Amino acid sequence: MKYGHFDDAAREYVVTRPDTPLPWINYLGCEAYFGLISNTAGGYSFYKDARLRRLTRYRYNNAPYDIGGRYIYLRDNADGKFWSPSWMPVRSALDEYTCRHGMGYTIIRSVSHQIEAETRYFVPMGENLEIWELTLTNLREKTADISVFSAVEFCLWDALDDSTNIQRNFSTGQMEFVEEVIYHKTEYRERRDHFAYFACSEKLAGFDTQREAFLGAYRGWDSPAVVEAGESTDSIAHGWQPIGSHHVKVHLKAGESIKVIFILGYQENLKDAKFDPPDSQTINKKTVKPIIAKYLQPKNVEAAFSALRDYWDELLGKLQVNTPDEHTNRMVNVWNAYQCMITFNMSRSASYFESGIGRGMGYRDSNQDLLGFVHMIPERARERILDLAATQLKNGGAYHQFQPLTKRGNNDVGSGFNDDPAWLVLAVAAYLKETGDWTILDAPVQYENEAGSETPLYEHLQRSLQYTIDRLGPNDLPLIGRADWNDCLNLNCFSDTPGQSFQTTTNKDGKVAESVFIAGLYVLVTKEMAEIARHCQDGRETAKMLRAAEQMEETIWKSGWDGEWFRRAYDDFGHVLGSKENKEGQIFIEPQGICIWAGLGVEDGRAQKALDSVALYLATPHGIVLQQPAFSQYYLHLGEISSYPPGYKENAGIFCHTNPWIMIAETKIGRGDRAFDYYMRINPSKREDISELHKCEPYVYPQMIAGKDAPTHGEAKNSWLSGTAAMNFVAITQSILGIQPQFDGLEIKPVIPSSWKGFEAVRLFRGVRYEISVSRKGVGNNVSLVVEGKSVQGTIIPLPARNVKTLKVSAFIGL
Ligand code: GLC
Ligand code: GLC
Repeated sequence: MKYGHFDDAAREYVVTRPDTPLPWINYLGCEAYFGLISNTAGGYSFYKDARLRRLTRYRYNNAPYDIGGRYIYLRDNADGKFWSPSWMPVRSALDEYTCRHGMGYTIIRSVSHQIEAETRYFVPMGENLEIWELTLTNLREKTADISVFSAVEFCLWDALDDSTNIQRNFSTGQMEFVEEVIYHKTEYRERRDHFAYFACSEKLAGFDTQREAFLGAYRGWDSPAVVEAGESTDSIAHGWQPIGSHHVKVHLKAGESIKVIFILGYQENLKDAKFDPPDSQTINKKTVKPIIAKYLQPKNVEAAFSALRDYWDELLGKLQVNTPDEHTNRMVNVWNAYQCMITFNMSRSASYFESGIGRGMGYRDSNQDLLGFVHMIPERARERILDLAATQLKNGGAYHQFQPLTKRGNNDVGSGFNDDPAWLVLAVAAYLKETGDWTILDAPVQYENEAGSETPLYEHLQRSLQYTIDRLGPNDLPLIGRADWNDCLNLNCFSDTPGQSFQTTTNKDGKVAESVFIAGLYVLVTKEMAEIARHCQDGRETAKMLRAAEQMEETIWKSGWDGEWFRRAYDDFGHVLGSKENKEGQIFIEPQGICIWAGLGVEDGRAQKALDSVALYLATPHGIVLQQPAFSQYYLHLGEISSYPPGYKENAGIFCHTNPWIMIAETKIGRGDRAFDYYMRINPSKREDISELHKCEPYVYPQMIAGKDAPTHGEAKNSWLSGTAAMNFVAITQSILGIQPQFDGLEIKPVIPSSWKGFEAVRLFRGVRYEISVSRKGVGNNVSLVVEGKSVQGTIIPLPARNVKTLKVSAFIGL
């Protein structure tokens, strides 16, 4: 069952009924000011950091589910009836309803009581504010007297403190109402230099800033007393719960329309220019006034909206494909790329499953995310790489998380996740391949953000790899540390107390438990490092890296191969995990994906054997589960993985991040049909038809789909913020469609379904527009390339002369 449809031309998903199985959300903002917005106008806003600069309140895990948002109430003043044009929170029936989630904007339109209301929500580029542009149209044959009420609930900035430190917070709230603008200035009198404002384009009939005055005692957002009465109370909040609500009365003739613009924004003042007059406690509004004035003008709103469109056109224009499959096209051209940008902006901080007060940015997460956005925003990718590398420890290790506001490593979580360092090499390799900007390797970068500790980035990469070699276990495999990619495989933490951290309470010395996954990852990135060194004419390093890769491969075959698949790990007792010898957890997906991606067994049939085992034991119609058999009980020596009920999360859930590794592996052995089949099983657009089961948004990947051991097999959770976005983007565009940036140029090496006659693509790469057409001439994946009419050896298109801006490329496959 569907709850809407894709509008591919407009790059929108159109939700056509408000009662989706879960709130289906979108993100506003691309730079510093961000918002989450659901299909019923739920959500919240923040500046840069979802915890420390939260503008508006949102109550997670509430009932009803999605409360707190950007609410507008309409009231017919003739009969006193009122409704929410976004359905929530009043939830009275609407005659028509659509919510269009687009690139950085959301438009909710509805008709009720013969009044059409369309609200366009977005954040203008370069500004720290959001616009709600409401267009009201009277569809009646007679005039209508309508009251419009806006409503937001302010958060007292630190979202964690806001929801817990009630004894203080009920006494700190402060507001101003000046020249019809609502200002929220809690704590501005002391250490904060920022405030929020909420303005409206129309003359006000009233306003409210005290929540209980607006709602009325014991009432909820579904029936505010002020809306019911049709009269604001002009309340000024002193403590308690500051809100912002405007009241506008509109008189519309039959067929007439009016635009009402609301703007909600964040503003900082210089420390010594906070107050006006200086000896007062009144906000200095000199800098903010012109901004407010500008965006209350419809023509400026329109211009800002079209600039936002241009921004996304440019980003998405870097790669556009036209394949025989519509789900592939819309994910690659629009939604998967968009989700990659959202992971760039949000990491794992704020979604409807991430509360914005939890994690900083993951080191491995951010490095992997980069693979999905580097082609769209290479300059910002460069900056991200340098920021991440500057938190690196001198021994090559990494802080598991870093804080975006301070750009420093997070001491609470610390380091010791032994896969972390290796991902930096993969990210830098991806950056170099995309941009050819080798100067990044010379950039002086600090360790642990310490002045004077700088070395070139190149050395950071070397230290990252040395970190693994310095930590080998009894079988010469890399020691796992707190965890590797699988955060929940905690072999050195025997956690037996409720609430104790599974990862950071380390009570084993970590000298035994080893990871085959890290070994595979090491081979993959060491080969990349060898290529990087070769480019830098560092022959010694190249040779060293190739030897190291070879040695690790030998070790994997000796201790990491189980006969029909790759093993997963050795635990603290030296027992194998992910082997026929195990009762549960016999086979894991991660080592199959990463080892074969690194090239192991591709030539001698063992990769195929491992992938056949994946198909046999792990694949389901809803995607490939993480391991089998699921852990039926909690195992002290395995940790969090076995804390989840079977079929969920890392305990045999379909952890979507890992599925593309298998797709990539399948393309390595040339099985395009298999690779694409796996791609389709978790493709959100393809799953749109089963939305009642899948539950999450059909336009973005979730982190997890419940596995076959779960009672709700096929049900998705944790949409939006997941490494799934970048990895699927890599798998489909680089491995299946085979358009892959390499150090020496763009490679075209598709491994597509046998039934496809071909496809077309436009790829902007190092300043050149590649117009690519792929045609199948026969079976198999052999490629012959013709570039500008001339045939070219191999699969990599040589970089053209500087003045060349466009290249026509034909690739013939199956010859
Ligand atoms: C989460 C984490 C990621 C980890 C994965 C598997 O997505 O953000 O770092 O690799 O879970 O545990
Ligand atoms: C939990 C999740 C896992 C995630 C980790 C991040 O363990 O199950 O997916 O990686 O938290 O700390």
